Amino acid sequence: MVVPPTEENLERAAHLLRSGGLVAFPTETVYGLGANALKAEAVARIFEVKGRPTFDPLIVHVASPEMLFGVVAETPPQASALMARFWPGPLTLVLPKAEAVPGLVTAGLPTVAVRMPANPVALELIRQAGVPVAAPSANPFGYLSPTRAEHVERTLGSRVDLILDGGRSQFGVESTILLLAERPVLLRHGAVPLEVLEEVLGPVELQVAREHKPLVPGQLPHHYAPSTPIRLAQPHQVPPEERKRSGYLAFRDVPKGFKVVKVLSPTGDLREAAAHLFEALHQLDRLGLEAIYAEPVPEEGLGRAIMDRLRRAAQDPSRV
Ligand code: TXA
Ligand code: MG
Repeated sequence: MVVPPTEENLERAAHLLRSGGLVAFPTETVYGLGANALKAEAVARIFEVKGRPTFDPLIVHVASPEMLFGVVAETPPQASALMARFWPGPLTLVLPKAEAVPGLVTAGLPTVAVRMPANPVALELIRQAGVPVAAPSANPFGYLSPTRAEHVERTLGSRVDLILDGGRSQFGVESTILLLAERPVLLRHGAVPLEVLEEVLGPVELQVAREHKPLVPGQLPHHYAPSTPIRLAQPHQVPPEERKRSGYLAFRDVPKGFKVVKVLSPTGDLREAAAHLFEALHQLDRLGLEAIYAEPVPEEGLGRAIMDRLRRAAQDPSRV
């Protein structure tokens, strides 16, 4: 059931989380499917409902840096500096895990991914629940991420105990994931651009493109995909006959000849483009098109996260 985030509904949602239920909630990146991170049975329901393999660890969401106590075993100085700068916000840090976190959350890894979301509904929900909340994106495994409550309703619907509607997600792409080992390693491009992290950290090693041994399933070659086949292509690369039966996901200009066109940002703003990416793909995917073609965007700032998602969506699933 989709409900507005009134005081009463937040209380109900917080109670559901405490008692082992599943609540979908808005974050500034995408909608999350939350469960009490310290209860293995509750977390197990996330995997069940998403159809997510249990080798895929989850991100734990906290409402304050203090709430990390009980989730991580230690907070290195570099992590504290990053939290001070980027939390609340779309940066996920991978840190040594505390004993209390069930192995199911971390897929047996000695580390745990944590973030403090900036969305006020998410923060209030976690604060009221009083427990850290494990939450992957609220979509069936491998499918497009949800940036609106209705996306969650359409794909997971009644299998979730409650869906809090907080309007459209501000960033529209997932958090950036950073592993803090001896040196910082970027595991997933996301809403905090690499350039911004490097201003703080200096050069950051990238481990996002591993094809064969993914560290995180966001790294699986085929992921974030619509049901309609999707390919990266400039408009002129698509034969006119094919255009008539296909949709085009354009960056800024409307090309000719396609059955339907969605423009990510008429002004060419990568932030705006990221915010519209999944929503536009959800819309195109519902039109019964033969194919969706997507225009490559510049690979800088949020364009890195956009291109990462588009490339993975465009991978042939039979090759995975
Ligand atoms: O923006 C986001 O991060 C959203 C919202 C809901 O917060 N969540 C999200 O979760 O994108 P999900 O499950 O779709 O992606 C989580 C990624 C996965 O690819 C997972 O493997 C990785 O985080 N991850 C979790 N724990 C990890 C760990 N200990 N080491 C490395 N990667 C980890
Ligand atoms: Mg996801």
